[in-house]
Amino acid sequence: MAFNADHIKWFRDSSPYIDAHRSRTFVVCLPDCALESNNLNNIVSDIALLNSLGVKLVLVYGADQKVERALPGRWETAGSRRITTPEILETITSVLGNVTSDLIARFSASSPEAPLLRRDITTASGNYLRAKPLGVIDGLDHLQSGEVRRVNSNAITHQLEGGAIVLIPAIGYSPSGETFHLDTAAVASHVSRALIADKLIYMIEDEGLRDTRGQIINEIDLSHMERGQIEGNDEPDRLITLCDQACQRQVSRCHIISFETDGALLEELFTRDGCGTQIIGHSYEQIRTANIDDVPGILRLVEPLEASGVLVRRSRELLESEIEQFIVIERDGLLIGCAALYPFDKIGELACVVTHPDYRNSDRGDRLLDTIDSRARQAGIEQLFVLTTQSVDWFLEHGFKECDVAELPDEKRDFYNYQRNSRVLIRQVQ
Ligand SMILES: CC(C)(COP(=O)(O)OP(=O)(O)OC[C@H]1O[C@@H](n2cnc3c(N)ncnc32)[C@H](O)[C@@H]1OP(=O)(O)O)[C@@H](O)C(=O)NCCC(=O)NCCS
Repeated sequence: MAFNADHIKWFRDSSPYIDAHRSRTFVVCLPDCALESNNLNNIVSDIALLNSLGVKLVLVYGADQKVERALPGRWETAGSRRITTPEILETITSVLGNVTSDLIARFSASSPEAPLLRRDITTASGNYLRAKPLGVIDGLDHLQSGEVRRVNSNAITHQLEGGAIVLIPAIGYSPSGETFHLDTAAVASHVSRALIADKLIYMIEDEGLRDTRGQIINEIDLSHMERGQIEGNDEPDRLITLCDQACQRQVSRCHIISFETDGALLEELFTRDGCGTQIIGHSYEQIRTANIDDVPGILRLVEPLEASGVLVRRSRELLESEIEQFIVIERDGLLIGCAALYPFDKIGELACVVTHPDYRNSDRGDRLLDTIDSRARQAGIEQLFVLTTQSVDWFLEHGFKECDVAELPDEKRDFYNYQRNSRVLIRQVQ
């Protein structure tokens, strides 16, 4: 068998994301042009792959172009809103019914490109959206055009817990039994908010949002962005507004990616840089006390440093038994930093201070040290010492002074490894 180093590296690099995405809820919005794209089968098979990796998926879709083709020139708009007559609504429900049934058929087909996906994929659709009429705007009755009033998140969650992919066409029902056509992108944002989803993913024709020089924007931080930096008509602005609304309701991340590019969904979700535009609404990085579920993430961080001799090797069992001594930096479900504090009465050992190489030089080491300082203060510890072979300067720059092995607490001194010859540094707790 040919040895493909790139594939193996890619698979290894993506394994932290597989862990991070398991049991998370993603809402994916497919515009109707995506449903007509030649890439649709690949998108369906990537969604099926995510489902088999334990991701909970909701697909929101519309069929506006198909309806327009069925009724040329008859579906009028006022500004950005459509005016849906009862006759047009009949066509919409029939077209969306066909699209739903087509999607179910695609998820049911076993794909020759994905021979490992042999298990049955279950889909669920139903009356998950309560709608209300848009009503009369600027003197114009929008008839059967509506907006979301409520999302039945319990019913959706129930289906997701059972492993189904939930299919939600952009159509809603009022308590009086009326049916309303809804805006697809707005429905996706509503659903993500109601579920407090982990991700809201919009698929568009382009590879992502572009800046005024035409370059794809990799990441937009909503707390710092200026709208004028983004190229295009009102559509990018509208998507950003919908993402913003989702982020304000604790949806962790939004992504805008291409439906035309084969594998865009997987590249965005399983690589560090992604391929589209990622939108962050609030700080998604936190420093916190570690728990037992963090053991695999900490091992992934420290193992390369243990292998190169920078850190002393710790077994999984030892790490599990000492886990409450650790703090971690978590970013979007991934652990990118850690440190530990071992108390010896009034003196404490600072150990295993690590920032993932991709995230260094942004004060994370500094923040880990601050957090350890505050934990030490709370525990009545007055001094911190550290043993290091390769980061002496970093600690010197953070106020540590070199000292002799003899100054270590007895238990530590007795086990000092003279062969390893670590330098010992000490500092008052700040
Ligand atoms: C030491 C370490 C935690 C710093 O992480 P970090 O998140 O980059 O830290 P900060 O962003 O707060 O500090 C970055 C600054 O320290 C400097 N720095 C980083 N590692 C250094 C090292 N080993 N020696 C000297 N300086 C270092 C950087 O050049 C940068 O300086 P600058 O701001 O002047 O450019 C990280 O390099 C690491 O994980 N090292 C391997 C593990 C290790 O040796 N741990 C210590 C023993 S427990």
